[in-house]
Amino acid sequence: MMPSLLYARSTILLAVASAFHPSSLRNNNHLSSSRRLRMTSANTNGPFPELVVFDLDACFWDQEMYTLSKIPDETNVVRGDLNGRGEGVVGVMSGRSRISLHKGSLSALQSHHDGRYPGTRVCFASSADTELAERIGRAALRLLEVVPGTTVWDLVVGRDWNGEDVNQIGRRPPLSANKSATHFPILRELTRVRYDRMLFFDDCQWGDHCGQVERACKESNTGNGPITIRTPYGLGVEEWAAGLEKYAKAYQALDGADNYDIKRRK
Ligand SMILES: *[C@@H]1O[C@H](CO)[C@@H](O)[C@H](O)[C@H]1NC(C)=O
Repeated sequence: MMPSLLYARSTILLAVASAFHPSSLRNNNHLSSSRRLRMTSANTNGPFPELVVFDLDACFWDQEMYTLSKIPDETNVVRGDLNGRGEGVVGVMSGRSRISLHKGSLSALQSHHDGRYPGTRVCFASSADTELAERIGRAALRLLEVVPGTTVWDLVVGRDWNGEDVNQIGRRPPLSANKSATHFPILRELTRVRYDRMLFFDDCQWGDHCGQVERACKESNTGNGPITIRTPYGLGVEEWAAGLEKYAKAYQALDGADNYDIKRRK
């Protein structure tokens, strides 16, 4: 019974459990202060993925790039409230279509910006249909903001990768329409992050990228691949939370949560 309490990750669960078992409060003293801290803040308990990979179209943002025809620039931005963080670029116009981040993408990147996911870096894997679609996508990433003055590109290329563009966007060689055959193996090589330390979000409307990546991209010594989440309605805050939760559970099942910090250092 106690082990299950140790793994309870929501404050509510803990509070309910404590109400039934007053002794469990004493038991919490066995936890390190960092574990206790993680258990009391929603979504920040970890362990966190080392690499979060977002699909772009209909997942990270609300448009499909192949339907657009204009490469946006600074004159095409739409300003507005960035999820309570002040005024910034909340949209980018490509012709008459507006590209905006889905709610879960914006809040995930804001938390990432704030350093709430230690050890996590972010990148994109998109099978954009044409060269124009790729260029519109990259331009939008350079314009849309996470917090005022910091674009998505600033954060996930500038800060996470010291300016190196590791993103895999497109389907022209060496890429293809099959992310498990090209985008992920290339990311594995470039980033040196193990497949089983990745978390991947994809709308999976045009093909089951999540299933393909799970099946084809595995580490030989563990047999495990990326944790994946389908986002048929776009990346909402629920899907983001579900992804972190699923990753943490899988990691704990694999390695044992209490060894996490030790293993990370290896
Ligand atoms: C995608 O690539 C993987 C890995 O090479 C392969 O196993 C799978 O059959 C391919 N899927 C499709 C739909 O082509």
